[in-house]
Amino acid sequence: MRKKIVAGNWKMNNDLSQTQTLLNDLKKQVLPENVAIIVAPSFTNLYAAFESLRDHKIEVAAQNMHQSDAGAFTGEVSAAMLKSVGVKTVIVGHSERRSYYNEDNSVLSEKVNTALDNGMHIIFCFGEELDQRKAGNHYEVVKEQLEEGLFHISEENFKNIVLAYEPVWAIGTGETATPDQAQQMHHFIRETVAENYSEAIANQVSIVYGGSVKPNNVTEIFSQPDVDGGLIGGASLSAESFMAIVNAFQ
Ligand code: G3P
Repeated sequence: MRKKIVAGNWKMNNDLSQTQTLLNDLKKQVLPENVAIIVAPSFTNLYAAFESLRDHKIEVAAQNMHQSDAGAFTGEVSAAMLKSVGVKTVIVGHSERRSYYNEDNSVLSEKVNTALDNGMHIIFCFGEELDQRKAGNHYEVVKEQLEEGLFHISEENFKNIVLAYEPVWAIGTGETATPDQAQQMHHFIRETVAENYSEAIANQVSIVYGGSVKPNNVTEIFSQPDVDGGLIGGASLSAESFMAIVNAFQ
């Protein structure tokens, strides 16, 4: 049985006080047993979040990390630093990192290696731009992002991976992929994993969808057979909205 996962990517939102308020609101909620719940605050709030959620079901993740273990990389954060504040999961390859900071498949493959070498779990993000979908190249783009950024890892290491399909044109736009679009791409992704690894790996890896998931559209998306949850941006900044999405699996 694949793990159901709902992760909140808070992006560059919430100072320390707002982080503690949101986490306190989430901690008051009755959480479903069958869904893994993750929140990804900004770096400055990770330790406070880890302390607040110590021994709690909700897990803390980082939104990024550098591919090097240490060194002269001003402003960057290493895997060891994340582990030292209790963080064992990291988002790699978010489209905002790919586009704003030029993180290409080569850099991302290095980040994947460093995270795995440090025993971390990875939420690996990928997805096509609008023009690529309009041109009918979205499957080719996604396949290349996976093959060049992730598919060098061993079968053994795949257990540490969550795949996050995020069509760039749906992120923060309010324009969500239709349930059919999400299912078609998730099915393609699972088939691509099977081709590059095995049916067993393909059937056990969780593939989550991200891109304008909201309480009013989540049920149809999460009901798709190859959708195993979501990577949530804006709606994760409200305990009510985030929990409505988490509970959509009920
Ligand atoms: O990582 C999740 C994010 O990219 C989706 O953002 O605001 O469209 O849910 P949003």
